[in-house]
Amino acid sequence: MIKKVTVVGAGHVGETVAQRLAEKELCDVVLIDIIEGVPQGKALDLSEASPIEKHDAHIIGTNNYEESAGSDIVIITAGIPRKPGMSRDDLISTNAGIMKNVTRQIATLSPESILIIVSNPLDAMCHVAYETSGFPKNRVVGMAGVLDSARFRTFIAMELDVSVENTHAFVLGGHGDTMVPLPRYSTVAGIPITELLSEDRIKALVDRTANGGAEIVKLLKTGSAYYAPASAAVEMAESILKDKKKILPCATYLEGEYGLKDLFIGVPVKLGAKGVEDVIEIKLTDQEQTALKKSADAVEELKELLKTLSF
Ligand code: APR
Repeated sequence: MIKKVTVVGAGHVGETVAQRLAEKELCDVVLIDIIEGVPQGKALDLSEASPIEKHDAHIIGTNNYEESAGSDIVIITAGIPRKPGMSRDDLISTNAGIMKNVTRQIATLSPESILIIVSNPLDAMCHVAYETSGFPKNRVVGMAGVLDSARFRTFIAMELDVSVENTHAFVLGGHGDTMVPLPRYSTVAGIPITELLSEDRIKALVDRTANGGAEIVKLLKTGSAYYAPASAAVEMAESILKDKKKILPCATYLEGEYGLKDLFIGVPVKLGAKGVEDVIEIKLTDQEQTALKKSADAVEELKELLKTLSF
């Protein structure tokens, strides 16, 4: 049976996710937004590209959640970007309100779906979606590490002038500047980059990765990255739809793994038909464990802040 994926938020990330899902012919797509006409227009435009792109995926654009009923996966990109003069607390409470509203409707109409959260601040938004949906932890997963590790891989390939396909990169932690890239588990054709690059060069690549989102915002000036975030969300969806059981770094709900509890944070997980099928625990050095704890503290701080806000 053809799978059905709903993408909530028909902005830059959402429209690109819809395009990639359809062009890979992974599923039918329902694109939802609150702005009237926008999801309809984008879905029609994407459909009209299908004879040339050679796929038969059906793409519907709508403002009505009823059309999303029975989705296998729901990818949530809805939210607002930070506007001038807006405090971080205002942004979090607005986006948390949007996430709550979206998740409530999705949970009613697609009670068996797997939620892939993309909206920022990612780890906190995962928590809101988890609590609002009441879904088991394996069916709420956040997109962050796949994007962060793709950025790290890109920079490693640029530095060593090799194919990106030969690179593998490991990134743990929250999505943001406290993320924890792990160079000794990052490889080129199986060779750890610690064997190929000096400590200084690795540090430069790690810093660029941790600030990867900000680098794009600075260039674009009026928006944030969307091509790579969309690719990352679609890789996760593909692993679930095809039950590929890929090991990917994703934000997942931890219950003691890595010494962390009751929070969403990025760690390697196995993604298959059931969603997060396993959390892969790797041995960390003291330094890495300390960096992960620092990242978890930053996530915890946002989670506590959420409790004090009304949304
Ligand atoms: N329901 C549905 N859609 C909504 C809602 C809502 N309640 N509120 C806002 N939206 C829609 C907006 O109308 C807009 O079309 O979400 C879309 C967001 O799109 P953009 O502003 O273009 O943002 P985008 O670049 O796609 O990023 C979306 O992903 O990577 C993260 O940080 C990024 O949180 C942001 C999200």
